[in-house]
Amino acid sequence: FGRQLRIMDVVPSTQDELRKLAEEGAPEGTLVIAEQQTSGRGRMGRAWVSPAGKGVWMSLLLRPLVPLPLTPQLTLLAAVALSRAIARVVPSLSIGIKWPNDLLVDGKKISGILLESAAEDERLRYVVVGLGVSVNLEPDDYPEELLERAVSLKMANGGKAIDRAELIAVILEEFERLYDLFAERGFAPIRALWEAHSVTLNHTVRLTTPTGTLIGVPRSLDEMGGLRVELPDGSFQTVYSADIGDPG
Ligand code: BTN
Repeated sequence: FGRQLRIMDVVPSTQDELRKLAEEGAPEGTLVIAEQQTSGRGRMGRAWVSPAGKGVWMSLLLRPLVPLPLTPQLTLLAAVALSRAIARVVPSLSIGIKWPNDLLVDGKKISGILLESAAEDERLRYVVVGLGVSVNLEPDDYPEELLERAVSLKMANGGKAIDRAELIAVILEEFERLYDLFAERGFAPIRALWEAHSVTLNHTVRLTTPTGTLIGVPRSLDEMGGLRVELPDGSFQTVYSADIGDPG
């Protein structure tokens, strides 16, 4: 991964730059990295704060052989790869994965992952994996209301800056390693790693899904990457897309 590499200065979003390359036939593993994004985007249509020179804002191209309904597995794979990479570069941090793929330190978000795919029928043409890591941001870089919920690696690491180039290299290494494991042995080992690092399982949460809100206790992942949630009446529901919050 990353052997085809485009480093850019200011772009609206690395997702769109990579999508253009993907449409032109760029190979799997192609990577776009930007110093700054002016319209960085997150899940659920949210904006992603991407100031110049302070983060890892990048998009990685996959051309996986899995069918479209299994993209949630890649979402979870990405979270495991990124958390392993950050833990290697900043060993002092204890990183938890919030379903599906937010990485948290002390309950605050340090990175986000956005998968966007292009498919024909049920066949995936490509997947663009957007990885955003708030590396050396200062409190001033965040909008006030985000500070309660977000933190940078530097802030969580006692103010010590982190080398972005090293982090990028380790992310690519961990990603490639897990992607190979996935190709060889399927989703089971990824699922086990995800479950081991999760901070979502076995806590009561509120899930806002496209079809409504439910309160329950996530217990495990299913074989497609969905979250199996135990409802108050003891029954189970599997959720594939949701935003998770406190039960309130
Ligand atoms: C989220 O947590 O909601 C996902 C955030 C993903 C941000 C990354 S930064 C690189 C890539 N380009 C974007 O516009 N978004 C992703």
